[in-house]
Amino acid sequence: MAKDLDWGNLGFGYVKTDYRYVSNFKDGKWDDGELTADDKVVISECAGVLQYAQTCFEGLKAYTTEDGRIVTFRPDLNAERMIDSCKRLEMPVFPKERFLEAVEKVVAANRDWVPPYGSGATLYIRPYMFGSNPVIGVKPAEEYQFRMFVTPVGPYFKGGAKPIVIKVSDYDRAAPNGTGNIKAGLNYAMSLYPIVKAHEEGFAENMYLDAASRTKVEETGGANFIFITKDGTLVTPKSDSILPSITRRSICYVAEHILGMKVEHREVLFEEVKDFAECGLCGTAAVISPVGKIFDHGKEIDIPSGMEEMGPVTKKLYDTLTGIQMGRLEAPEGWIHEIR
Ligand code: PLP
Ligand code: COI
Repeated sequence: MAKDLDWGNLGFGYVKTDYRYVSNFKDGKWDDGELTADDKVVISECAGVLQYAQTCFEGLKAYTTEDGRIVTFRPDLNAERMIDSCKRLEMPVFPKERFLEAVEKVVAANRDWVPPYGSGATLYIRPYMFGSNPVIGVKPAEEYQFRMFVTPVGPYFKGGAKPIVIKVSDYDRAAPNGTGNIKAGLNYAMSLYPIVKAHEEGFAENMYLDAASRTKVEETGGANFIFITKDGTLVTPKSDSILPSITRRSICYVAEHILGMKVEHREVLFEEVKDFAECGLCGTAAVISPVGKIFDHGKEIDIPSGMEEMGPVTKKLYDTLTGIQMGRLEAPEGWIHEIR
């Protein structure tokens, strides 16, 4: 029986669900892993994650389709990106097949928590891993825990598909040759001060520029940028310090191969932003959230698509992407994984 939640009014928050998946790494290997009802983690006071932030995570969603199936969207890419994160953080990789199996298990065990089709809510899946044994000299842990929980969520930004206002940050998200291209918890810890300040000033997010020259657009704290030129080309910023968003890669594919659009994945100068017709943020949590205005130190860039609704091209991308995710449109081969 589906849980009795007010699905339409969920925010992006944590709700404790029935089961989570846990596997422990010890003596050089992962144990078999299992589902558990226990939402508490007990680790050493000196655990590597608590001292030196040795942790990474992923984010993906399960959807109820129009015909009542439960599906996930490209979980293989989350498994692969987590492997990249683990390698960069000197953590053991959690094998791709096991990651996919954990997604199956944890979603199936919590099927009553998957929001119904058309409710506007989805089931957010949060895989993560952390160093769990005592570490006091700066070095990688020897023991790790991999966990995966789920929580039903609504829109990441209040107002859902309403355009948001963002600001150009004075802080940097990621250093050149740093960890911006992986999903390390530390990237988010250092974004907390700037996001709290931005929220206090009334902005929904920060636009981070490249740390080295502060002339190029990188991303926000939790999403990649998409831009639409006045002649309808999709432009997405390219940089080694941006997280390779699965949503962004999917949107680029959809634009090129389904919608027949011109697509450019390249460096984007901040100087160019005022010339675009549409701007949006994309990610698992953000889906595609339109940006209406960008504040740059007292100057205001008004995106021509305005503050009332998504621009027409962004809307077409949004409808196609979510149509695929919710089973209304045929998906490219291998994108949709049904949970049985
Ligand atoms: N950029 C950052 C910094 C993120 O945290 C996320 C969220 O996962 C994204 C981009 C979007 O990535 P994805 O589309 O894979 O969710
Ligand atoms: C996601 O979109 O899955 C993320 O991890 C972004 C985070 C800011 C919630």
